Amino acid sequence: MKKVLVATEKPFAKAAVDGIRSIVEGAGHEMILLENYTTKADLIAAASLADAMIIRSDIVDKEVIAASKNLKIVVRAGAGYDNIDLDAARSAGVVAMNTPGQNSNAVAELAVALMVYAARNNFNGSSGTELKGKKLGLHAYGYVSKAVATIAKGFSMDVYAFDPFVDKQIMIDDGVTPVGDVSELYSKCQYISLHMPATPQTKKTINSDLLSKMPKGATLINTARKEVVDEEGLLQVFAQRPDFKYMSDVEPDSKSEFIDKYSGRFFFTPKKMGAQTSEANNNAGLAAARQINSFFETGDTTFQVNK
Ligand code: 3PG
Repeated sequence: MKKVLVATEKPFAKAAVDGIRSIVEGAGHEMILLENYTTKADLIAAASLADAMIIRSDIVDKEVIAASKNLKIVVRAGAGYDNIDLDAARSAGVVAMNTPGQNSNAVAELAVALMVYAARNNFNGSSGTELKGKKLGLHAYGYVSKAVATIAKGFSMDVYAFDPFVDKQIMIDDGVTPVGDVSELYSKCQYISLHMPATPQTKKTINSDLLSKMPKGATLINTARKEVVDEEGLLQVFAQRPDFKYMSDVEPDSKSEFIDKYSGRFFFTPKKMGAQTSEANNNAGLAAARQINSFFETGDTTFQVNK
C-alpha cells in the first residue's frame, strides 16, 4: 500500500477529491489530503510521509524533494510544471509528470471571457465593442490555444497563431492561419492570447518591442504565466498608449502601478482561476490519480517531464 498525498494550497472541487480518493483506494493505496495549507513546513511534513504526490501550482522545490524520502512520483494535475524542481526530482529518482490537456477547456473559456470583459469595458456601462470580425493572435499553439481557437471562431473572430514547435498544417486543419514569425502575429492582431509555458527561454519575452507593434485597441490576454511578460515593458506601452489593455489570470508584481495609473484598462484575477472549474479539477485530478496507479502497477512513465 502506497501513501498518495494530494497537496493543494488551492483545493480541487469536492467531487474531484472524492474521485481521486476512489481511484487511489480502489488500487489498494491510501490517500492523504492536505488542502489550504499556508506554510511550506506543512507541505514538507505531509510530503515526508508520501510515496506519491498530486499537486497543482504547489511549489515542489529542492527542499520539499529532499524531505520526501519515500517519494517516487509527483504528478502536477495540470499543464505547467514550472513549480517543480525537475533536476532535483531527477537526482532524487523522483518521476515528475503533468496531465496535458486535462484542464485546457476551462483555461480557454476564461481567456475568451477576459476578451469579452475587455471589449465591454469591464462591464462599466459604457459602449464597448464586439469580438466578431476582430483578429486574435494565439502565441503558442497547444491544447489551450486549440480550444480558444474553437470558441473564438464561434464568435466569428479571425484566428492567427505562431508556434515554432507546432506543424503549421495542424493550425490550418483547425481553421487557424499560421504566421511566419512572432512580430507578424503582434503587428496583425488586436487581441493576443498567451499560451506558452514559463521557461528560461520564454520568461519576460513579451516585451515593449512586441507589444508596441499591436494595432489600435490592443488587448493582451494572459492565462499562461505572469513571468512570461516583461512588466516593465508592458508598463512603458501602457504609458504611451491609452488604447492598450491587459487582462491577466493572476496579478502581476506591479499590480499597484496599474491600479494607481490605469484604472479601467486591466483586470487581474486575485488567484489563478483558469483551471478552477469542477470539470477541470475532475479531469486533471482523476488523470493524475490514474497515472500514479499505473506507475506503481506497471512502471508506466507516459507523461514524464523530467526524463
Ligand atoms: C496549469 O498549468 O495547468 C494551469 O495554470 C492551472 O493551474 P492550477 O492547477 O494551479 O489552477
